[in-house]
Amino acid sequence: MTKQRTLSIIKPDATSRNLVGKILSHFEEAGLTIVAARMMTLTPEQAGQFYIIHKDRPFYGELIDYMVSGRALVSVLEGDDAVNLNRKLMGATDPKKADAGTIRNLYAESIAANAVHGSDSAENAATEIKFFFPELA
Ligand code: CMP
Repeated sequence: MTKQRTLSIIKPDATSRNLVGKILSHFEEAGLTIVAARMMTLTPEQAGQFYIIHKDRPFYGELIDYMVSGRALVSVLEGDDAVNLNRKLMGATDPKKADAGTIRNLYAESIAANAVHGSDSAENAATEIKFFFPELA
């Protein structure tokens, strides 16, 4: 299988609880390599643009407020089937529905403050990686 890249964000609820190391270990132990990483506080413009596909959803405003509320670790993960593998490691968006042992099952607080983001397709991964790491494109 060819190597693939995906974008990961460790969100403010997780960075504020010092869960960065534990979450990165899930990726590395599953065989994903962190090929780029940046700790940053997103601006409202960055968060709004990144989640623009959700702009008509009722939770959009809450999502943007939350994403700019603290530091986020934005990273690029590389490995076999990285997009799907990362999504399996994260578990369902709603932590109440996430399988036991997944990142959201272990660490997420709610559907809004759900610890991590991961690209949902290879196509979106390319777009999201370019958004934060244009030098990798
Ligand atoms: P993420 O995988 O980053 O993609 C979109 C985000 O919107 C999602 O994780 C959640 O943080 C957030 N989200 C999705 N559904 C809801 C909801 N019903 N209420 C609040 N936030 C949500």
